Amino acid sequence: MTQEAPRTAGEMLARAREFLLRKGTAEPRLEAELLIAHALGLNRLQLFLRLDQPVVEAEVARARDLLVRRGKHEPVAYITGTREFYGRSFRVGAGVLVPRPETELLVDLARERAKVLASPARIVDIGTGSGCIAITMALEVAGSSVTAVDISAQALELARANAAALGASVEFVEGNGPESIAARAPFDLLLSNPPYIAPEERASLAPDVREHEPALALFTPPGDPDHWLRRLCAAARACLVPNGTLLVELGHRQSERALEIAREQGLEARTHKDFGGIERVLEARAS
Ligand SMILES: C[S@@+](CC[C@H](N)C(=O)[O-])C[C@H]1O[C@@H](n2cnc3c(N)ncnc32)[C@H](O)[C@@H]1O
Repeated sequence: MTQEAPRTAGEMLARAREFLLRKGTAEPRLEAELLIAHALGLNRLQLFLRLDQPVVEAEVARARDLLVRRGKHEPVAYITGTREFYGRSFRVGAGVLVPRPETELLVDLARERAKVLASPARIVDIGTGSGCIAITMALEVAGSSVTAVDISAQALELARANAAALGASVEFVEGNGPESIAARAPFDLLLSNPPYIAPEERASLAPDVREHEPALALFTPPGDPDHWLRRLCAAARACLVPNGTLLVELGHRQSERALEIAREQGLEARTHKDFGGIERVLEARAS
């Protein structure tokens, strides 16, 4: 027996939740709300205010397409084309890492360190992706001068669009790692959320990440998990003003090596825990 089409937004939402639960997606309730709201051209709050509203066939078809994509583990942010970061909406899409809530800790620390800097604070973000770190810093630190680097032209295109949409002034540079901005040094703050997953761990990642997010944004070079820590700590020595600060997002179990590498480079170093209790950010300072 075929099921009748849902007649209201509320019925659509209930069906969507059941479907995503059956498909075993990460957060069926929240995802259903986001996808149904998107299909109806509403935000989540508007959706809750209109649960009794009748829906038309085209809306049901649109919702079905979105749910099928999510059922195949495409990240919700790629389906809706946006993700919130630090209270702002960033465009995201295939080829660009979806900004993560834990990266907000790096921005919190960077804002705090920027408070004591003379204006303009010179800030650089290595591996900018959607531009979420660089753009947030440009908007949160008045009078700052922000440079952002990525090797991916696709990521830079989206980052530039995000900066324009959010009214942020950021200089975007297509380049390979921190060495590519050496000529623009010195900087007060060197920030990075680099790729930090070992390719050997690929199989253990959630299918959303493994099958949809760009390998370039996720993985360290094979057999070299410390690659980015070495490059960023060396760059901190070469490119930061005296007492300038390096902040690097870390993966699980990276903190001890991160501290060792920073200290080998003669940097003073400590790590900061995220809300899940994981040592998530390396902070290092050149004396
Ligand atoms: C983990 S993602 C971080 C993206 C963004 N900053 C964020 O926090 O959501 C790492 C980024 O580094 C970039 N990347 C990878 N290798 C690079 C390289 N050799 N030079 C510059 N950027 C690189 C990737 O394209 C990706 O955008």
